[in-house]
Amino acid sequence: MAQGLLVSDHPLLNDLYALNLKAYLDLSLTVVTDIDDALNIIDLDAQGDIIISLSQVEEKDSGKIILEHLEKKDNDCPFILIGENSAVSDVKRIVNLPANLNISLVIRKCAEILGVTAKEMASKKVNDFYPIPISMLECFSEAPCDIYTKVSKVRETSQFAKIIQEDEENQEYSHKKRIEKYRGLGIKQLYIPSGLRLKVVNLASEIVLKTLDDSKNDHAEMLKASEQGFEIVADFLGAGEKVSEEVVEISRKCMETMKNTLKKVPRLGPLLKQLVENKSGYLYLHAIVGIYISRHIIKNISWGSEEHSEKLSFVFFFHDIFLSPIFAAHPDLKYEEDMLLHSDLSEDEKETILNHARLASEAVKTFPRCPLGADTIILQHHGTSNGVGFTIEYKDDTSPLAKVLLISESFVEELIKERSNGMAKTLVSEIVNKLHLKFPNHTYKKIINCLDTIAF
Ligand SMILES: [Fe+2]
Ligand SMILES: [Fe+2]
Repeated sequence: MAQGLLVSDHPLLNDLYALNLKAYLDLSLTVVTDIDDALNIIDLDAQGDIIISLSQVEEKDSGKIILEHLEKKDNDCPFILIGENSAVSDVKRIVNLPANLNISLVIRKCAEILGVTAKEMASKKVNDFYPIPISMLECFSEAPCDIYTKVSKVRETSQFAKIIQEDEENQEYSHKKRIEKYRGLGIKQLYIPSGLRLKVVNLASEIVLKTLDDSKNDHAEMLKASEQGFEIVADFLGAGEKVSEEVVEISRKCMETMKNTLKKVPRLGPLLKQLVENKSGYLYLHAIVGIYISRHIIKNISWGSEEHSEKLSFVFFFHDIFLSPIFAAHPDLKYEEDMLLHSDLSEDEKETILNHARLASEAVKTFPRCPLGADTIILQHHGTSNGVGFTIEYKDDTSPLAKVLLISESFVEELIKERSNGMAKTLVSEIVNKLHLKFPNHTYKKIINCLDTIAF
């Protein structure tokens, strides 16, 4: 086993380099975040077979300082410098690599220096990775398996780097803290070895079911747990699996929890605030706020009943569930209708977007005791009668509950877009005005008018 020294004050890079060099080259790195510590290790000649340093550490030219120290000590240990912000970047004695997340380049250079062959490296590669939403990984207090991130995409082949190791002893960075950090960087999904998918998703669903059962939890936790449940259901259905008992159980518990939580948070403002604090994803956020809005409409419309509310809650939970992997893979995506214009989508993803209403409608048909007609409302939720594509003209012959759904969704979308502007009260009336323009037919008007009394 080779040893080395990594000098870096960037915790994420430390994880990436240390875990991957260990996995691919069996190189164990001593990580220091302070240049003086690095110099002390060099003084003891304990740096091992290789030194890797960022070109700037704590805003100092670490390359120059370390190189001068090595020369003073007549130490010819190979030295890799990452980044070009050093006065010694051009010095021949140093291997200088660009500052990016190209972990494979760092691995290759280290392999060259350590004399590890490509064949030896290939034998250690893990083949196939499966995307898992970060919110699902958040329910674990310890990593359920090794966790990876996608670091680059060369043509159709992606490269993955390990960021969290199962059974890692370093307690300083717990699994939860690391996941939080990646989320802070805007990452919405991470990867696990494909063969472990079922194990991990099943473990996650056990944990989530337990949380949903625990009535002591406060509403913030319940909102979070039902989001995790929502992701688990999306994973099962997205992987093309039949609606199993597990999916039924977890969906029912989530819908129940969402309904009860909405009763505890009777105003829209605090609900939104909580979801934003939880960093909830768009799909879950628009589903739960949509349930809130549609319940309000049904309560205020002459023909509304509790049964209608229940049906719409069910519809909201499932209507976009097939979009979940697409939203996770493209964190910059915001709204459904903008999705087709997004340039990074693959043909397969575009196909799923166009057909997501039809796919969800077919999936819920196999759900035991699926509320009568829920599949048709899901099919029509973008205003087309066959569940394919998006309409621009909202017709009268759509079913009344599908109209409530269309309006509730539009309200939520506008609310999210406009939230930062203006006072809450004027915000609601502005959105209502916009909806009247978007849905001019009179059968929609009555439904829109119910929104005037929303409590923000
Ligand atoms: Fe939607
Ligand atoms: Fe949709």
